[in-house]
This record gives sequence, C-alpha cells and structure tokens, in this order.
Amino acid sequence: MTRRKLVSGNWKMNGSLGALSELDAIAEAAEAHAGVDVAVAVPATLIAPAVARVATLSIGAQDVHAADKGAHTGCISAAMAKEAGARFSIVGHSERRADQGETDADVKAKAETLHARAMQAIVCVGETLDQREAGEAEAVVTAQIAASLPEGATGAWCAIAYEPVWAIGTGRTPTAGDVAAMHGAIRAKLRAMIGAEAEKVRILYGGSVTPDNARELLHVADVDGALVGGASLTAAKFVPIIAAAD
Ligand code: 13P
Repeated sequence: MTRRKLVSGNWKMNGSLGALSELDAIAEAAEAHAGVDVAVAVPATLIAPAVARVATLSIGAQDVHAADKGAHTGCISAAMAKEAGARFSIVGHSERRADQGETDADVKAKAETLHARAMQAIVCVGETLDQREAGEAEAVVTAQIAASLPEGATGAWCAIAYEPVWAIGTGRTPTAGDVAAMHGAIRAKLRAMIGAEAEKVRILYGGSVTPDNARELLHVADVDGALVGGASLTAAKFVPIIAAAD
C-alpha cells in the first residue's frame, strides 16, 4: 500500500504578515513536488492572509475548540478556522497537552469536530524523556492512540503525528530504528482499532526534522511524512524537507 507523503509545517506562535512571503517558495515547491502533500499550520491570525497569498497551498490551524461556538474566551472553533480558509488543524500537540492540560478525550473531541466540518485532522502523540527512559514509550503512545483516535477515523481525513516530546526543538532525534519500531507499533494499534483502514492512515514523524536528517527519517518504514516546527519557518529550510519526501 502506498501512502502519499504529507509534509506539514507547524509555525507554532511564530510568524507575522511579513513572514508570509516565505510561503511563496513553499507553494512553488509543493507544485514542483506533486507527489507530496504539503501543508502549513500557521497562527490563527495568519490563516486568512496566508490563504489569500498562496491559494494552492493547504493552510491549517494549530488547534480548534471542540465546540462550534459559545462562551470560550480566546478559543476558535473549527467552523471559524474553516471560514478563514483552513483545510485542517493539528490537535493534541504536546505543547497544548502540557501548557493547556488537554486530555486524550479533548483531543478526540476536537478531531471529531474537524471531521464534522469536513476538515482534516493531524492528531499528535508522543512520550516524554522520562517515559522513554523508563521503557514506557510504546505503552504511552499506543494508549494515547487508543484514547484520542476519533470515531470513524479514516486515512482521508485523519493523520497521526508521532512527536517524542524530548525531540521537539532540541536538535535530538530518535534513531531510525526507534522511529521504525514506534511507527510499527502505532500501525499495529491502528489495525487493532480500525482494521484495514489503518493502511491508509498516514503516520508522520515530528521532532527536530531538518534538511540534514529529513531524507533518512522520511524513508523509515511506516513514516508517511513529517510535522516540522522550526525548520518550517523559512522556505530555505522547509523546501529541502519537502524535496526529501519526494
Ligand atoms: P521542531 O521541528 O521545532 O522540533 O518542532 C516539532 C514540532 O513540535 C512540530 O509540531
């Protein structure tokens, strides 16, 4: 089964109207590498201007609330992100699980809301360094999958991103062997949950992906793309990662 690779940027709380010029070359690379799906999750305030600037590129949000509307000061709904032009959202990023106390149940509800709005979801999972050192990494991650995979998940709208917390923004990455083992464990868990559809769900790797390590990481078995933080902020670093996926 061949799955199209998906390379998504996550700008986190970075960027500005001026930084949107980086998207021009990223959109060009996306067209040049037509075999790769390319996306960028920008801050909510930049969704509409990003879409206006590069209509061909898939622009997404970094989080949405599970509810459609209501008394949730500071939050945005999937419908709002969609109206601004977002085609997808990241949900359950470890920074939100840690900073905002998001639970697996919250993450699952958010992903289901995205599906209800005909948007795509990138559901993030990953262990901490303490959990890895305690030999609990696979148990932690498969438990996160069990509790945060949305009902009715299919490869058409749901992707998983495996992001070991200790690899995010640190310059450290797991070995190719560790990535293969974890992605294999995630695939096996998906098979147990959704049967044959598991073969269609893309499993992205995230955590210190750079132009230097992208080719190796992106060609590990069961790695169907990358979720890229720091190196997605400039076309100079993100474009080579897109090329490495092709
Ligand atoms: P870095 O690529 O900056 O390590 O961030 C990874 C990440 O958290 C993407 O969601």
